[in-house]
Amino acid sequence: MILFRTKSLKQLQAEAGEEGTHTLKRTLGSGTLLALGVGAIIGAGIFVRTASAAGNYAGPGVMWSYVIAALGCAFAGLCYVEFAAMIPIAGSAYTYSYATMGELIAWVIGWDLVLEYALGAATVAIAWSEYLNKLCQSFLGFTIPYAYCHSPFQASLTTGEHGLINLPAIFILSVLTLVLIRGTKESATLNNIIVAVKVTIVIFFVILGWKFINPVNHAVIVPPNEGGDAFGWQGVFRGAGIVFFAYVGFDAVSTAAQEAKDPQKGMPIGILGSLAFCTILYILFSYVLTGIANYKDFSNVGAGHEAAVAYAISTYMPGYSWFSNLITIAVLAGFSSVILVMLLGQARVFYSMANDGLLPKMFSEVHPRFRTPAKANLLLFAFVSIFAAFIPGDIVGEMTSIGTLFAFVLVSIGIIIMRKTNPSAARPFRTPFVPVVPLLGVAVCFFMIYHLGWENWTRLIVWLELGFLIYFAYGIKKSKLGNGTYNHKLSTIGFGVSLASLVVTAVVIYQLGLMGN
Ligand code: ALA
Repeated sequence: MILFRTKSLKQLQAEAGEEGTHTLKRTLGSGTLLALGVGAIIGAGIFVRTASAAGNYAGPGVMWSYVIAALGCAFAGLCYVEFAAMIPIAGSAYTYSYATMGELIAWVIGWDLVLEYALGAATVAIAWSEYLNKLCQSFLGFTIPYAYCHSPFQASLTTGEHGLINLPAIFILSVLTLVLIRGTKESATLNNIIVAVKVTIVIFFVILGWKFINPVNHAVIVPPNEGGDAFGWQGVFRGAGIVFFAYVGFDAVSTAAQEAKDPQKGMPIGILGSLAFCTILYILFSYVLTGIANYKDFSNVGAGHEAAVAYAISTYMPGYSWFSNLITIAVLAGFSSVILVMLLGQARVFYSMANDGLLPKMFSEVHPRFRTPAKANLLLFAFVSIFAAFIPGDIVGEMTSIGTLFAFVLVSIGIIIMRKTNPSAARPFRTPFVPVVPLLGVAVCFFMIYHLGWENWTRLIVWLELGFLIYFAYGIKKSKLGNGTYNHKLSTIGFGVSLASLVVTAVVIYQLGLMGN
């Protein structure tokens, strides 16, 4: 069946071994890959979402939210590593599913990864814009006019002014796109420097803040449920879905597998090392943050709901206001490296999809001098900028989380299938206890998807339906595996069914919207 045709493992491994001017350059060592992971992980999640999850849902129990989210990532991460070391090619989860579950699912996952990487970059660019404003306020005494740093769907709580376009978000995206075009090695060097800065800041916060922890704030770790998702274990679970965003990106290391000098060694270190390191930092960070300030300060109506870390320091750590300014600068730098790795990952996924014919060829063209997918970078810049400029951060952030969780589910299932279809293939790294670990990955990720709520399920469904439409209109016809032949009837029926389901979903959303009013 055309829809489930797979690329053979041999073919993929041969592609991974190709070298030449039209391919990506193998320049990244294990340490750089580890830094790439940390660079993608520590960002808006820890600095923005920890406080928001604590204040509105989990209280100090946000530490448990981090543990739950880490479990889901660890199970999925173990599956990623087996694949990444076995098939060290740029497409990550997309490529793995092409080898296991066939072309249609591979397309779905490639399309889904746009949510993770492209929208992830947009989310963090929006957060970058907020922090830039804070910096301007503290150091230069002015703020960027509300209309030019917010989406048209946002209005100021104090003045009622509406947003128009988020210009600083577009600015940072354009700068980082240029860095990426210049070269992967140069981008990785910049990332290494930023990672050193942000890790130092987080460790400093934990050490300095430790002695300001007020035991009263930790007297109750999981506050009693106040109805719905507000606090109690229900709130901790909802919090896990929110802080999951903080882990998004560790898998981006796998998209650079084709540029790793020694992927068999570098992939396990980069993926699992960065995940383990950040999990420890996150739990310590959330312990200290909810110990210094009371979680109620961070609720949507609390005094510290914006720039929470800076707020906690300036309010509860007398004599350390310099540190709060330093944090703002480090956060800005830290966000930049997240955006950098997300954009890098997205361009690499597109590169692989275009190589397979599922996307237009321009996405796989490599710049003759820089050996980077420069055109893909530019197109991506335009696409991500639209989201960053016009959509509120919360919405793109939750779409990022649900898209990533969905990818994790498919990668975990993929490992079970690969063990069945290619039992004797060489595996430099083996996921332990298959199928238990992958199944646990599926379960924990679905659990978090469930707790992200129906609005986000609907967004994911609409996104996937759009993906099906594009596949049946383009990919099925151009796929290289198909060698120029395709089944006209199948593509017409597929297109019709996708369109019909998109319309049905739109009607259901409309009805639910009406019911909500
Ligand atoms: N994990 C990344 C962040 O928290 C996406 O910003």
